[in-house]
Amino acid sequence: MTVEERYRESYKTGYTPWDYTYTPWDVGQPDFNLIEVVTTKPIQSCKVLDIGCGTGDNSIWLAQNRFQVVGTDTSDIALQKAKEKASKANVECDFMLVDFLKNKIKGAPFGFVFDRGCFHSFSSENDRKRFAKNVATHLEEAGLWLTIVGNADEHRQGPGPPQRTARDIVFAVEPYFEIISLQSTHFGSNHPIPPRAWRCLMQKRYVT
Ligand SMILES: C[S@@+](CC[C@H](N)C(=O)[O-])C[C@H]1O[C@@H](n2cnc3c(N)ncnc32)[C@H](O)[C@@H]1O
Repeated sequence: MTVEERYRESYKTGYTPWDYTYTPWDVGQPDFNLIEVVTTKPIQSCKVLDIGCGTGDNSIWLAQNRFQVVGTDTSDIALQKAKEKASKANVECDFMLVDFLKNKIKGAPFGFVFDRGCFHSFSSENDRKRFAKNVATHLEEAGLWLTIVGNADEHRQGPGPPQRTARDIVFAVEPYFEIISLQSTHFGSNHPIPPRAWRCLMQKRYVT
């Protein structure tokens, strides 16, 4: 199964085979890492792309905080939920069923790209590099990308999100991005011991 098929199956069955549990990332609220970065860094109101937006909590928070949001995902079930939540919250978000690795997203270029748990899902170095290059092509000059990634420094016994090293992140993104900050953190989670994460804020390199 591809990454996209595995996620589609999880949303359909409500079960995540690799995590022995329900869609554990879908915590019903925006991630505090996103809120902290957007409220403490000079990120101006702009068009933002939420890649692998899932059921939309982060997209909705961004739309409520002066961003024009496009959310993209490969699961129609997740997107249907996202649309329902946005309508209930009375906010405008453009949710699209598009595979980010295969298609250009309408609305580019964006000023800010966010992803929580999409980039980290790809286990091959080549796919992560392709993902990073694609993010760069969707961004304006000097545009920003914030990614939240499972952290391989967590030595865990049981299941959890995919884990990547700092090197994995740097290797994939550095050709296209200057790293502004790479911080060890944890996911916003409903679990008493939230999984460790990296949060990496980057700026698209100037092409000379
Ligand atoms: C771990 S979930 C995170 C969902 C959401 N960002 C959140 O924080 O709740 C990863 C998401 O990426 C989506 N996804 C995986 N591959 C994708 C691709 N190629 N293009 C767009 N979305 C993708 C999955 O369907 C899934 O919703």
